[in-house]
Amino acid sequence: MGRVTESKFAPGGDRELRERIARVTWFHEIELRPGLRTPAPESTRKRLGLLRIPPDLTGRSVLDIGAWDGFFSFEAERRGAARVVAADHFAWHENSWSDKSGFELAREALGSGVEDVDVDVMDLTPERLGTFDLVLFLGVLYHLRHPLLALERVASVTANQLIIETHVDLTWLRRPAMAFYPGQELAWDPTNWWGPNPAAVESMVLAAGFKRVEMMTPNSLAYRTVRTGRRTCRYLTHVLGHRRTPRERIDQGRAVFHAFK
Ligand SMILES: C[S@@+](CC[C@H](N)C(=O)[O-])C[C@H]1O[C@@H](n2cnc3c(N)ncnc32)[C@H](O)[C@@H]1O
Repeated sequence: MGRVTESKFAPGGDRELRERIARVTWFHEIELRPGLRTPAPESTRKRLGLLRIPPDLTGRSVLDIGAWDGFFSFEAERRGAARVVAADHFAWHENSWSDKSGFELAREALGSGVEDVDVDVMDLTPERLGTFDLVLFLGVLYHLRHPLLALERVASVTANQLIIETHVDLTWLRRPAMAFYPGQELAWDPTNWWGPNPAAVESMVLAAGFKRVEMMTPNSLAYRTVRTGRRTCRYLTHVLGHRRTPRERIDQGRAVFHAFK
């Protein structure tokens, strides 16, 4: 297990914690005390089920790239990982969507030993961070200007397994292809650059140095929801809720991939 210290927030003394929670703009819904969850735009726990992270991480090292508030880092620690490193850059600086205060408050309240490193994906190297048994790369790929180069950097710090969760586009095409968003085409967010289709994600992952890759989501509710155009999944309505053409609604979605060295 990672180093776990006692939370400084005494049981029952929730007032200070609630006040500090209210001062943060949260991306993740994290249960800091039984029944006391951080307010977030979506249920992070529902997303967790789609990722199929190994339930037992005892003794393993985990790197969470683009960790933001750290939900998945804390979950890896909870599953027994010996060392967990939360890495981010963009969201941890005040001039972006949010800052690091959510991660820091959650770590303190949970008494967590998750380490943090402020690093851009492009600056990941084994010399700087070491290598990790499991690397989480969730919701980050489509934010990057140079996704193949980014996957090479991610591969360089992965010793065994990588889990990618990403926006996908052009899902009907079997050949590897990526949609390019030069402006705010995707969710009105100028930080979204690319929508690879599943074949493109798989072939880029292999080109970046992994031996095997598998898309985990075709049977998930989320993926079927996108493919059939039915809007029954709350998680997807968060992502797809922005004004989009019927064609985009059919072409686009989210997918999860597991890759192995
Ligand atoms: C949509 S959020 C996903 C957060 C979290 N991984 C999750 O799945 O809930 C995208 C994250 O990627 C991070 N990110 C974007 N560009 C990055 C970069 N070049 N280097 C490191 N992190 C980056 C953001 O700071 C943010 O935390």
